Formats: sequence, C-alpha cells, structure tokens
Amino acid sequence: MQSFTYFVPTQVLFGRGTETQAGEAVRAEGGSRVLVLCGGGSARRSGLLDRVTRSLEAAGLTWFLREGVRPNPTLEFVEETIRQYRDQKIDFLLAVGGGSVLDTAKAVGLGLRDPEGRVWDFFTAKRDPADTVPMGSILTIAAAGSETSDSAVITNEATREKRGRNTPLNRPRFAIMDPELTYTLPAWQTACGAADILMHTLDRYFSNVPGNETTDALAEALLRTVVRFAPAALERPGDYEARSELMWCGSLSHNDLTGLGRGKDFSVHQLGHELSGRYGIAHGASLTIMWPAWARRVRATDPDRFARLGRTVFGVTESEAEAASLACIGAVEDFFRSLGLPVDLGSSEIGVLPQAELEALALGCSRGRSRAIGTFCPLDHQGILEVYQDANRGK
Ligand code: NZQ
Ligand code: ZN
Repeated sequence: MQSFTYFVPTQVLFGRGTETQAGEAVRAEGGSRVLVLCGGGSARRSGLLDRVTRSLEAAGLTWFLREGVRPNPTLEFVEETIRQYRDQKIDFLLAVGGGSVLDTAKAVGLGLRDPEGRVWDFFTAKRDPADTVPMGSILTIAAAGSETSDSAVITNEATREKRGRNTPLNRPRFAIMDPELTYTLPAWQTACGAADILMHTLDRYFSNVPGNETTDALAEALLRTVVRFAPAALERPGDYEARSELMWCGSLSHNDLTGLGRGKDFSVHQLGHELSGRYGIAHGASLTIMWPAWARRVRATDPDRFARLGRTVFGVTESEAEAASLACIGAVEDFFRSLGLPVDLGSSEIGVLPQAELEALALGCSRGRSRAIGTFCPLDHQGILEVYQDANRGK
C-alpha cells in the first residue's frame, strides 16, 4: 500500500427532506449573502428551488439566483456569472442540481476570488488558485460525485476543450443528499449517472500497485451495489432503496476511498472528456463508449485483474485468467447495453467518425502529443489514437 493523505471534510446530510436544512447549513458555515446556482429547470419544476429558498429566508439569509447551467457546463456561463456577481459581496455558493451545477459553482468560487480574473488558467494548469468562496450543494442526481470531490470540470466552448481542475479548495462544505430528489430523473440520466459512478471506481481499480485488499474489497462492494440497484432504479424510479444506494455510491466512488493506497489511472475519463468537449455527449455515455476499447487495448497488461473484476462483480465463471478477462469485458459491455447506454461510437448519438475526427480527438487528449494518459498502461498519442479507432465501430 502506498502512502496517502485522506481528507474529505464535506459534511453529508443524507435522507428524506434534508433540503429543508439548507438555510441552517449555510448559516453554520458563516454564509450570509448566498448565490444559489441551478440548472435548466428541473429543480424549479419539482418545487425544490422554492423549498430551498424558503429555508434560506427562514435562516435570515440574503439570496441571489442564477439559473441556466447546462450539462457539460461552459466557461462562458462561469465567466458571465462572475461578472454579474463580482460586486455583490457573495460569501457562500449553494449549488442545487447535478455535477454540472456543482462544478459551475466551484469554478465561480475560484473566479470570484481571483484578482487576475482569468479562471480558465486554473483549468489549463497555467496558475494555481489561492482562494475560493465556500460552497455547499443540494444534489439532484447520483452521478459525478462532485458533492464530495475536489474536482471541477468545465468546457471552453470556443476551443471545444473540456478540462478538469483538482484542488482542495473545490471540496464542498456540505452535501445535502435526499434520494427522493432523484425520482424525477429521466431514465437516460439515471443510466448515465450509474455508469459514471462505476467508472469512478474502475478508473481507480486498474492499477499496477500490488496489494490494497481493503481498497479492492471496498471497490468491488461498491461496484456490485451499483450493478444491482441501477436496473432497479430504471424499473422503479420511485424506489427509495435503489435511489439511496446509488446516491451514496456516487459520493463514495469519487471521494478517493476506492483508490486509497494506489493512486488513480483515469484514462477512460480523459478519453471521454474529448468526446464531450467536441460533441457535447453526456459524460456517462462518453465513458461507456470508451471503456470497452480501452479495456481491449490494455487487457494484456494484467489479465488477472480483469479476471478478478469479472468474477467478483460481473458473475464471470471462467477459471482460466485469459478467458475470464475476455469474458469480463463482454460482461461489462452487456451491462452497459442493458442500461440503454452506447458501447462504441456507432451505437451512440455521435456515430462512426471519419479518420480526421479521430486524429483531432487523439491530439486533444494527448495535448498535442505532449502527454501520455493513465498509469496502469500509459497511452501516448499513438496508443490514444488506436483506442479511438477501436471505439469507432458499431452501427
Ligand atoms: O439542468 P436541469 O434541468 O436540472 O436538468 C439536468 C440535466 O439536464 C438533469 N437533472 C438533474 N437532476 C434532475 C434532472 N432532471 C430531472 N430530475 C432531477 N432530479 O440531468 C441532466 C444532467 O445534469 P448534470 O448536472 O450534467 O449531470 P451529472 O451529475 O452527470 O454531471 C455531469 C458533469 O459533471 C462532470 C462531467 O464531466 C459533466 O460535465 N464531472 C464532474 C466531476 C467532479 N466534479 O468531481 C467528476 C466526473 O467524473 C465528471 O467529469
Ligand atoms: Zn466521471
């Protein structure tokens, strides 16, 4: 087990009706002038936004509202929000929504406290942020794990680049998690969310660092839970047990717990971000398109690892590692298909791409041939291109 520091300071308020505690939670963190951020309308339509603002008023807080965050949230929206609220003495950000709203709030917080006013610099690693406005969240979809993660992911529409920034400053002060808030999710979003949760653990599971039995066991239990409850949530959107399990897995999958002692790989996320940045596809779907091709490319690095995943999570029974590892990849693909998700470009809304587009994706992912991705089996520009080429199949 490698040395690690584990610090997840986010207070979790989990369960039915916890959103009514929003005002008290903000006040306990010292907030008085609160900017509430929201998505494209689901929180308003469900009545959640009203309940939250009433709770802020009951706690004696002043609030402002910025609606309209889109999935794959944009730098342009972040910059406009910073311009609008720079002089309003905002001292707390409350994100009501999914990963896109939370990440927007995180970026706005960094931007509001940046004297140079160029928040994108933080996402291109040109500069490090020194301060932020504290934020909390009310989560409405089990997916990105942003509610306890140190990461924010933003898309620069002008350049079609999607970039993430990890910093302890991004950790929310609290996460309000009421599984009932996810009952209204369309099936597609439930499925994309479940895939993202799986992938946060899988992008940590594949590692060359030996040992780490505790971390492996936690990871496998979490993966089994998602595999069990995602179909249940799709069948019965109002199933509290299924929604609770998915919601809690979403946080635990991306707060580093399932990667302790071995670090992360995150190749599939890097490959997927290029698809979302260029074509706007939902994050979860970008991952299910890329995972099978990535897995086929790197399987020979450690067939035993794939075999273990297959046996412990996906019901693979083959005794020999080579056969079990291949069966594992097939079983993961079948699971994604059963959720209605694409497993290659051809089965996705993007469709089969011409070679020039694959080259552009590989150039973006390798940052113009300047980096390799991953740690399990590092992929340079050529390796990345081959994975995109392999994913370019299907209908
Ligand atoms: O905008 P509204 O109307 O709210 O609709 C949203 C949106 O269309 C809808 N939705 C959310 N909750 C709902 C609901 N519809 C009905 N009922 C509800 N209760 O779902 C759609 C997707 O929302 P979004 O916030 O985009 O989903 P998600 O949580 O999957 O976030 C995806 C974003 O997070 C980033 C992704 O790259 C992507 O940009 N990620 C952030 C991470 C982080 N900060 O740690 C890590 C992840 O790996 C990921 O990269
Ligand atoms: Zn993700």
